[in-house]
Amino acid sequence: MAPRCWRWWHWSAWRRTRPPLPGSTPNFEGSDEVRDPANAKVLRKKRRRVQLGEKLGKLHLLTLLLEQPPQICVVGSGPAGFYTAQHLLKHHPQAHVDIYEKQLVPFGLVRFGVAPDHPEVKNVINTFTQTARSARCAFRGNVVVGRDVAVPELQAAYHAVVLSYGAEDHRALEIPGEELPGVFSARAFVGWYNGLPENRELAPDLSCDTAVILGQGNVALDVARILLTPPEHLEKTDITEAALGVLRQSRVKTVWIVGRRGPLQVAFTIKELREMIQLPGTRPILDPADFLGLQDRIKEVPRPRKRLTELLLRTATEKPGTEDAARQAPASRAWGLRFFRSPQQVLPSPDGRRAAGIRLAVTRLEGVGEAARAVPTGDTEDLPCGLVLSSVGYKSRPIDPSVPFDPKLGVIPNMEGRVVDVPGLYCSGWVKRGPTGVIATTMTDSFLTGQMLLQDLKAGLLPPGPRPGYAAIEALLSSRGVRPVSFSDWEKLDAEEVSRGKGAGKPREKLLDPQEMLGLLGR
Ligand SMILES: Cc1cc2nc3c(=O)[nH]c(=O)nc-3n(C[C@H](O)[C@H](O)[C@H](O)COP(=O)(O)OP(=O)(O)OC[C@H]3O[C@@H](n4cnc5c(N)ncnc54)[C@H](O)[C@@H]3O)c2cc1C
Ligand SMILES: NC(=O)c1ccc[n+]([C@@H]2O[C@H](COP(=O)([O-])OP(=O)(O)OC[C@H]3O[C@@H](n4cnc5c(N)ncnc54)[C@H](OP(=O)(O)O)[C@@H]3O)[C@@H](O)[C@H]2O)c1
Repeated sequence: MAPRCWRWWHWSAWRRTRPPLPGSTPNFEGSDEVRDPANAKVLRKKRRRVQLGEKLGKLHLLTLLLEQPPQICVVGSGPAGFYTAQHLLKHHPQAHVDIYEKQLVPFGLVRFGVAPDHPEVKNVINTFTQTARSARCAFRGNVVVGRDVAVPELQAAYHAVVLSYGAEDHRALEIPGEELPGVFSARAFVGWYNGLPENRELAPDLSCDTAVILGQGNVALDVARILLTPPEHLEKTDITEAALGVLRQSRVKTVWIVGRRGPLQVAFTIKELREMIQLPGTRPILDPADFLGLQDRIKEVPRPRKRLTELLLRTATEKPGTEDAARQAPASRAWGLRFFRSPQQVLPSPDGRRAAGIRLAVTRLEGVGEAARAVPTGDTEDLPCGLVLSSVGYKSRPIDPSVPFDPKLGVIPNMEGRVVDVPGLYCSGWVKRGPTGVIATTMTDSFLTGQMLLQDLKAGLLPPGPRPGYAAIEALLSSRGVRPVSFSDWEKLDAEEVSRGKGAGKPREKLLDPQEMLGLLGR
């Protein structure tokens, strides 16, 4: 409040005390200063300065009026794409943002990653929808950037391009037997139960007794939870009907979640662990021996890790409370954490036709805390199982030969979202910082990228003059036979999904077949 009052006082004081001016140019002739010939030269200079200032002022106004709205393009419609667009639209009143997406539908991992039993997480879709409905934003679905249109073509059409295309691949285990039937990446398994078109035919065989999940992150816990949740608890979620059918027939009784390091290095978080501990019809299996000596060490670790480890420790070493004991007594299913085990080979069945187990290298830690490394001791352990799910992380792919890419880190090299050595090119989300972090983390980093882009725009670092934006790209796509879908097309598909889900009491029944979707849009 104070600075605004202060500015108002200065401005009104100046208005009151300035000499009377005809029009906007000061009339120096009548003043005492002019009557003194010694001042004449100084006054002439002063007048010229004022006139020049006025001319510049008018020019500035004219530039603003003539200024072309910045045309910005975002690649990817997951949280990173939408949060970047939101920031740009909010902080630049003229900016126009086109969001290109390879799928026919928007929202990235919010639709195809977030677990169906976590519907509250998907509420961010409401905010994204508001952004997409802005008159200055357009969704261009069904366009694969790097295939249907090249990044340099986008750069030529827009003032700036933001790459927010996530991490579409999975990290491979690179061990023998990885290709055997019965081995899946968690990414594909998640895509299957969440209706990702490319994974709709996955049909995992759940007729085995034991499943092994490699990796101890939140995706591993999502997958374990979906495998073990009583199917009737998933019936009212947006899980696909096909996946629910397979889960209803599942004979999986035990799920091992295997980590190459120890309890102090698990990558999952406390909320997700608590959900597992409280999962109906299941009981946890933790070996107290894995937790020996941990009580003393947890005093030194940061608070979130401390609370997580205390929960693990309690679950491993204490008798369950009355409520937990009552829930666990009739449990027919179990899940367990196995530590200090690194995947070495997927073991084939006797006929060699599918996975029948996994050989794990026993490890020990070198170093302490988060940075400790797992090194093999030389011992191994074989764990029989009929299903292996590798959940060791996602991975970004390079999108275009013209865009720098760090294959080791799996990111586009960047400084706070500015792609290194490519002016006008930016990145946000998982492709900017690697495949970790929740939606809130992605939001913060996308806002930062948006901020950098606007700073560059203000500093005149982006190409001057008008850019054609979508008009140029539309012509290119049309010449290549690509027909993008709009946000209102998505809203039609959305309405259809909601209506199909209604009969079964589900929030929606996802459409899985792109051809069917295009048919519904009259294509
Ligand atoms: C299984 C799973 C569950 C998760 N659950 C949660 C959760 O419960 N809560 C939470 O806060 N976070 C969760 N996360 C993390 C969260 O999903 C990520 O932080 C976030 O989605 C990353 O956003 P992004 O936009 O970078 O990537 P994405 O969400 O992957 O979006 C990238 C988009 O780019 C598109 N795209 C890719 N290539 C191209 C191309 N060539 N041309 C055009 N478009 C392209 C993709 O189709 C996609 O729509 C989960 C992650 C996973 C993997
Ligand atoms: N509910 C939620 O909020 C939710 C749900 C799902 C996902 N997410 C987020 O999405 C992000 C991605 O999750 P994520 O689980 O895919 O990744 P992650 O958190 O990075 O976990 C990957 C796990 O794989 C292990 N791993 C990596 N390479 C390995 C190898 N070669 N051999 C054996 N193990 C290996 C890691 O162990 P090391 O630590 O030893 O490398 C770690 O345990 C995370 O930030 C997560 O929090 C959030």
